[in-house]
Amino acid sequence: MKKNSPDYSHLKAQQPIGIFDSGVGGLTVAKEIKRLLPNENFIYYGDTKHLPYGEKSKEAIKGYVTKITQFLLEKNCKAIVIACNSATANALKEVLDVVACSVPVIDVINPVAEKVAFELHNNVGVIATKATVATGLYKKTIKKHNKFIQVDELATPLLVPAIEEGFKNHPITHAIIYNYLSNNKLKDIETLILGCTHYPLLIDEIKQFYGNRVRVIDSPNIVANELKQILERNNLLNSKNKQPEYHFYLSDLTKNFEKISKKIFGNAIQLELQIL
Ligand code: DGL
Repeated sequence: MKKNSPDYSHLKAQQPIGIFDSGVGGLTVAKEIKRLLPNENFIYYGDTKHLPYGEKSKEAIKGYVTKITQFLLEKNCKAIVIACNSATANALKEVLDVVACSVPVIDVINPVAEKVAFELHNNVGVIATKATVATGLYKKTIKKHNKFIQVDELATPLLVPAIEEGFKNHPITHAIIYNYLSNNKLKDIETLILGCTHYPLLIDEIKQFYGNRVRVIDSPNIVANELKQILERNNLLNSKNKQPEYHFYLSDLTKNFEKISKKIFGNAIQLELQIL
């Protein structure tokens, strides 16, 4: 154990990983966690009743996130993955306060910003919700590690409602993507960060817009890798579990969540209503 690093020796590898988002977005991270860590159990909380977080005030987001973190700790999670940029940007401190170093916390902005900063990209664009862009956290974090990188952030608020409506490969979504990505702010970018966990659900359409001109960062992969390293470092990898269990709790049962979660995790999964 590193000097001053928290002591997680009270945790057991068999405990589940807690993952949360406002809705289906965090499933892009959960999917990558399942791929990289196929023996892990997890509990997913989707706060569908309160989405989109991107349109909510900082105070409101802090309130939701505090309750979800308490819930995941009560469910005995060994790590918490904040699979939501809006929650990370506005309420990371609240999550850390509730957790009080009892379990590791993995967010979706810091590992991605660090990786991009160290890989020496030049012009980076970030698309995200209004609540994320308002904090400027991607720009601040990338610049903290590498002040030479140019970072431009653009709020793209219509994408989450379109995704939650299930508008994939749909003319409305294509028009929204075309309109946002043609914005002057993103004119010279070489790299694009999808600063909302919902957006990888439209990654094909986004890549199509750019052809091969722009590199789109695979944030779920970076986040899942960060989680893997932290679990490994603390001897918390659940490597022997042959039948991982996935539990899904939602604050409102929606058809779209059911459709996307079953597509990724199979028809046998149960979605449970849990209002916090
Ligand atoms: N998926 C979330 C994010 O990464 C939240 C989207 C929303 O609810 O507005 O920001």
